[in-house]
Amino acid sequence: MIIPSTQSPASATATLDVDAVLAKLTLKEKAELLSGIDFWHTAAVPRLGIPSIRLSDGPNGVRGTRFFNSVPSACLPCGTAIGATFDTALAREIGHLLGDEARAKGAHVVLGPTINIQRLALGGRGFESFSEDPALSGFLAASYCAGLDDKGIAATPKHFTCNDMEHERMAVDVIVTKRALHEIYLTPFRLAIADGHVPAVMTSYSKVNGTHASENTYLLEKVLRGSWGYNGLVMSDWFGTYGTSEAVNAGLDLEMPGPSRFRGSLLTHAVNANKVSIRAVNDRVRNVLELVKRAQATGIPENAPENELNRPEDRQLLRRLAADAIVLLKNDDQVLPFAPSKSVAVIGPTSRIATYCGGGSASLNPYEAVTPWEGIEAQAKGALSFAQGVYGHQMLPLLGKRMRTDDGQVGFSLRVYNDPPTGPPTPSSPDTRPLLETKHVTDSNMFFVDYNHPDFNKNGIWYADAEGTFTPTESGLYDFGLSVHGTGRLYVDGELLVENVENQRLGTSFLGSGTVEEVNSKTLEAGKTYRILVQWGCSKTSNLVAGSMIDFGHGGMRIGACRRLTPEDGIAEAVALAKTVDQVVLCVGLGAEWESEGEDRVTMDLPPNTDNLVAAVLAANPNTVVVVQSGTPVTLPWVGQAKAVLQAWYGGNETGNGIADVVFGAVNPAGKLPLTYPRRLEDNPAHVNYRSEAGRVLYGEDVYVGYRYFDRAGIEPLFPFGHGLSYTSFSLEDLVISQAEASNDVQVSVKVTNTGAVAGSCTVQLYVAPPVWEPRRVPAVPQRPSQELRVFDKVHDLAAGASAQVTLNLDAKRDTSYWDETVDSWCSREGLYRIRVGQSSRDVNAVEGTLTIKETTHWQGLSP
Ligand code: BGC
Repeated sequence: MIIPSTQSPASATATLDVDAVLAKLTLKEKAELLSGIDFWHTAAVPRLGIPSIRLSDGPNGVRGTRFFNSVPSACLPCGTAIGATFDTALAREIGHLLGDEARAKGAHVVLGPTINIQRLALGGRGFESFSEDPALSGFLAASYCAGLDDKGIAATPKHFTCNDMEHERMAVDVIVTKRALHEIYLTPFRLAIADGHVPAVMTSYSKVNGTHASENTYLLEKVLRGSWGYNGLVMSDWFGTYGTSEAVNAGLDLEMPGPSRFRGSLLTHAVNANKVSIRAVNDRVRNVLELVKRAQATGIPENAPENELNRPEDRQLLRRLAADAIVLLKNDDQVLPFAPSKSVAVIGPTSRIATYCGGGSASLNPYEAVTPWEGIEAQAKGALSFAQGVYGHQMLPLLGKRMRTDDGQVGFSLRVYNDPPTGPPTPSSPDTRPLLETKHVTDSNMFFVDYNHPDFNKNGIWYADAEGTFTPTESGLYDFGLSVHGTGRLYVDGELLVENVENQRLGTSFLGSGTVEEVNSKTLEAGKTYRILVQWGCSKTSNLVAGSMIDFGHGGMRIGACRRLTPEDGIAEAVALAKTVDQVVLCVGLGAEWESEGEDRVTMDLPPNTDNLVAAVLAANPNTVVVVQSGTPVTLPWVGQAKAVLQAWYGGNETGNGIADVVFGAVNPAGKLPLTYPRRLEDNPAHVNYRSEAGRVLYGEDVYVGYRYFDRAGIEPLFPFGHGLSYTSFSLEDLVISQAEASNDVQVSVKVTNTGAVAGSCTVQLYVAPPVWEPRRVPAVPQRPSQELRVFDKVHDLAAGASAQVTLNLDAKRDTSYWDETVDSWCSREGLYRIRVGQSSRDVNAVEGTLTIKETTHWQGLSP
């Protein structure tokens, strides 16, 4: 259903009188309000007019209340893609879109943005966060949250803090200096909260310096509520509450999800035993009620139905975003943009699949997802051809959308039963089990974590059959794969092909609770229709001991299939095709199964055989652009051979159109790297400290995260932080620094000129370099990164030959400060600071000036 327009936030009023209600609540009701009732809702107290409110993931879209068979949503480009725009105005527009999407899904609170830090290239959720740089991350987050707030919807920056890797994420103790904690990991939250639009924060799973974040008094009480004066709500990450008294006393307001594990009667018991004061409970309840009151003001009713918005103007914004995020890493001989009139071959593993999103709770069911092939096809005017080259998957590509139901719809039928199957039905032995319900499904990766049926057996054991037909377009040997959290058998035309019931092997699917994908093959003929049936039993039918610390309830199943193609044959086909065309768009990358919540990557490399394909195609046709889709850096061993390389991230619904817009020049690329692209894994600052070992991970690189480390260690990155080319060129000149006498205000202005032949957008980056470090100085001063990004701005669509004046506002104290551990506060030290304004962190043409800080001062809080 399409809903016409979004409700204005001003159109409803909040009626909840927090003080009056607080005075009337019983202790039992208070305890109930402090945890969710299910995965996505808080508790209601109808007798006092307290409604239940809805929370929804976040961060790159609003999924609604279902993992399984969810109502489709707008999927934005991933966090690092948004980071690459360096565009706070765009981040606010993102907030507006998410606000409208939240309303369509009946959600009052969006669980995002993710503003952790990519301290290593391998972090499974690196794609979700904006940047390795805290200022870029914090300013974008502030605008994103303000955009949601404009629509009345509450943002929830997460995960507070140091959730920067997935390995043993609930158990690991992050050992980090106070200085790195404040300068790097807390700063994005501080900047977002300073802007005043953050009503909720989610804690991270891990321990930080010995104590879990959700019960960490230093983080929650001393810093967040104390020093920063934050008066919003703090919720746990899902199943990230680990105790009753500790969490309530430290300031964790809401345990999510429900039903509660640690509150309810345990909390009333703790109050009666004086382990938790009633005052602490009241403080927590007050914060929940304030959020409920805010939610009430949205006018979004309790338990609202979930709808699709999918407006044309949103599709336009998503397309603009997808293109604006793309970083032109390299463009020798101006090989790009390609001419639409010439012949093009689209080659590679990510050409015909839409690599639109990373994996885990950020993933969602998009209204549509345009593949690079579809995007190129829509704009190419010359001959167009395709070669697969190699595959890039870990598990076989999902079969769901290539299946058909008996009435011809895309997808398959899912039939739900209480009783186990007895094998595939035949005319002589039909399925006589009582059917609970039939669903039409298109996504063959089904995670039933929040699915339920009122007539399920009391013992919670149930079964489902997924059935549809498949008609291959090419003859050959096909591999079929089945991964389950539960048990399952896959049949093709009644023949048992894959059995995943006994001797199951633990894999990484279903956030670490599923089996490895069991695979078997069968020769199929093009044009012939085959009946595919999977008979599945829920998680309780399996003896497999889950690898995840979280109980994912009912479990799930994943059905994949594809024609077998050896890398040798695929590469030979691709090379032969590349030789016959004028231009090649070579699409490679990772995707949701390589970069996902729950698991870090083990190498920085592209999937097996991909590099061989790229090298071979580049040798066959130098007129090739390599389009890399990943959320974080990958190794590019063939980069010296490539003339043109685009970093296209995960681009959301409009992925393929965004890529085509840049390839053919409809959009002049302006994205900038929000993280350093190392040459090799070993160059990463966190390389020796990137896993949980003996239950802890040492943030040994301290404040030298990302470019701060590459600068310090004198390592040449493959592409530096802030780098990104354009189809035109820009010069920066006439730097003027005006420092106010009576305040901290500093204005830095610079003239930007488009020195090329086409219009384009230019990002201006301002780095502050501290006074030269004097090793013998007494008293000693700490060493500091040689430069740090402090502010940035973007000049849009500057015509060829035109100039524009850009003024960047610095705060003299804030932007010269480091965290002084000796007094546990920020310190702006007297001295001469260099200001560098350039187009990347390594811009040799950056313009420079100086800023004098006359006296050393210390400050606390959100800003000086
Ligand atoms: C993630 C959160 C997410 C929550 C709800 C957790 O596993 O860490 O970011 O909001 O699930 O899906």
